[in-house]
Amino acid sequence: MSREEWDKLLDRMVKKYKMHPMEPWARRLVLTYLASLLGVDKQDWRGLPPGPGREQVFYSCQACHSLAIVKQQGLSRESWDESLVWMVKKQAMPPLDPDDRKLILDYLATHYGLDSSPRRRRIR
Ligand code: HEC
Repeated sequence: MSREEWDKLLDRMVKKYKMHPMEPWARRLVLTYLASLLGVDKQDWRGLPPGPGREQVFYSCQACHSLAIVKQQGLSRESWDESLVWMVKKQAMPPLDPDDRKLILDYLATHYGLDSSPRRRRIR
């Protein structure tokens, strides 16, 4: 999250969950720490190239495994589609919202398509 979002979260923790409020200097340090290590600008999306759908892939696809398993693939759109079906059916991935699913498929086919990886393999 961004520094502002972390800041709001801290407010919420204090108000809603009765977290002990921090001294301003401590809060500044904590915020700097959170924003630089767990902030938006500093993270490099683990190497995912920019483009529509990047966010969806980033947040949906590393709940169970690392993004490396995604990035090492080079699949046709169709095979990506099949692998999403497989992930939902066999691996208990929560079904994706249709709009997100389309974005994800477009993204994967564009950036991790058949021609973009030295390793061309189909999955089950
Ligand atoms: C609910 C858990 C879960 C989520 C979420 C998930 N996966 Fe997977 N995925 C798995 C499991 C389990 C495997 C199997 C690993 C193995 O075979 O060792 C896997 C394997 C894979 C593989 C490799 C298949 C192979 O044959 O080696 C790819 C590619 C993949 N996932 C892509 C994705 C993408 C893209 C997303 C996001 C849209 C995603 N996964 C989200 C559970 C998940």
